[in-house]
Amino acid sequence: MNQPALPGLGFRGHGLRAQTDEWLTPPSIIDALGPFDLDPAAPAVRPWPTAYEHYTEADNGLLLPWFGRVWLNPPYSNPLIGRFMGRMTEHGCGTALIFARTETETFFRHVWQGATALRFLAGRLHFHKVDGSRAPGNAGAPSVLCAYGDADAEVLADCSIDGQFVPLRLPRVFAVLALSTTWGQAVRDYMRSRPGPVPLADIYRDLAGHPKARRNRNVEAKIRQELQRGAGRRVDRGLWEAAA
Ligand SMILES: C[S@@+](CC[C@H](N)C(=O)[O-])C[C@H]1O[C@@H](n2cnc3c(N)ncnc32)[C@H](O)[C@@H]1O
Repeated sequence: MNQPALPGLGFRGHGLRAQTDEWLTPPSIIDALGPFDLDPAAPAVRPWPTAYEHYTEADNGLLLPWFGRVWLNPPYSNPLIGRFMGRMTEHGCGTALIFARTETETFFRHVWQGATALRFLAGRLHFHKVDGSRAPGNAGAPSVLCAYGDADAEVLADCSIDGQFVPLRLPRVFAVLALSTTWGQAVRDYMRSRPGPVPLADIYRDLAGHPKARRNRNVEAKIRQELQRGAGRRVDRGLWEAAA
């Protein structure tokens, strides 16, 4: 389907029919999600770094080794976008930014089947040009951040970027908690996800790993409080089950 986008651009499949691939990520996104070790698809002239190391078109980032936590905003033209997203899926560590064209082959192969979690962005991005200036028009399509690996999924769950977090392959405990809006809801959801009586120590340990817990210094007291308020039912000393 063809849609108007930035001036002079039109969509074809997942990519853009564009005169340039130089659509730079707004620095606020890198600030919110970084630091990254490698950007394998970077402009030769950069207004700011997106990672500690960059590969450019002259290097050909598809031929070089990928390492560490990768930031990928790939060239949108076909077939490059599919090749870069394929490398990202194989690498399995980092975050990619692409258009939320959820029906395309690239999205099915390398996001629905490859990513760990997503954050669909509210509104539309304004990319930047290589001189650092902000493109006058918006991107013309919705964008999505795609996390590869549990660590990047946690960053997307916990970041301040306006949008909707969608876990795809997170452990169930993180998935239910990421969608919980309050502590009470989080503890209730966790208890419902665990069949049978659960030792209090397990509840502390599992909930302590969630980003919500990192912002609260009295996590254990908070968990006990929510259990006593009705999120759980005490079966025995130090043993709780989901409230009926
Ligand atoms: C959409 S821009 C994103 C730039 C940057 N990664 C960012 O996030 O701001 C895609 C970049 O990939 C670069 N590129 C195109 N083909 C490439 C290749 N084979 N290897 C490395 N970079 C490439 C383009 O020059 C362009 O700078």
